[in-house]
Amino acid sequence: MSIDVRPTGAAAGAEIFGVDLTKGLDSAGFAPIQAALDAYGVIVLRDQKITPEQQIAFSRHFGELDVNFNAKRFGVSGSPEIYIISNIVENGQPTGTRRAGETWHTDMSYAKRPARVTMLYAVEVPVLHGLALGGTGFANAAAAWDALPQSMQDEIRDLKGVFDFRGRKRSSPVSAEDIAQYPPVEHPIVRTHPRTGRKGLYIARDDCTGIVGKDEPTALALIEALADHIVRPDFVYQHRWRVGDVVAWDNCTVQHRAVQDYDLPQRRLLWRTTVKGDVPH
Ligand code: SIN
Repeated sequence: MSIDVRPTGAAAGAEIFGVDLTKGLDSAGFAPIQAALDAYGVIVLRDQKITPEQQIAFSRHFGELDVNFNAKRFGVSGSPEIYIISNIVENGQPTGTRRAGETWHTDMSYAKRPARVTMLYAVEVPVLHGLALGGTGFANAAAAWDALPQSMQDEIRDLKGVFDFRGRKRSSPVSAEDIAQYPPVEHPIVRTHPRTGRKGLYIARDDCTGIVGKDEPTALALIEALADHIVRPDFVYQHRWRVGDVVAWDNCTVQHRAVQDYDLPQRRLLWRTTVKGDVPH
């Protein structure tokens, strides 16, 4: 197998050619894929045709899998590690989360150990007049950190944010049990990547509800200013989905946002797996 990695040319993302995920991977085959994710924050493998088991097997190369709280309601039978993101309705019932991730965020920042890697596999993609809708934007929070003036870096380098599961309005109902599982947690707002050592901003509107040691108006102003800085167009790669895409991203390096510009009868169906991460430092 000869693997070719081609950067998107945007601030994040690389396409990987020469991998057929139905065939499985050994550690030598996986190494360039991990290296591409470390370098570009997002990897795209086109034209895959995989089963839930094959997606789970590929995801496990990145680490131990999480079972998302949404999978209880929107799971794939027999594969609890997969959670369905979809606008498809069957017998009057939603089959997946319709508006997952519509604001800029990084997965599970509300958890003590936020997600390391998230992977989506495109089973159905909404198309209108030949144009794919429902894209996903990725913002490179490490590039955003690098671009901050030194004085700002010095001011925020050691700050901690308060991340709260209840901060963001969620598109599907959340039980009191789910909320109780995730009490507010403090994370550094400038994270050091556990594999590469690269620093990146780790802060988002709504999920981050305060800054330790700052009064509320000061904290909210800083959160908003940094959140807006991260998603400046020059730090963003906009992914346009095709059926068969497998896209994985590193939640320490990038933030993401799903574009909600489609509706039934345009159908969107993605399978998501999530890899557990470390305590941020
Ligand atoms: C997510 O934030 O998990 C979903 C992203 C998407 O649906 O594009």
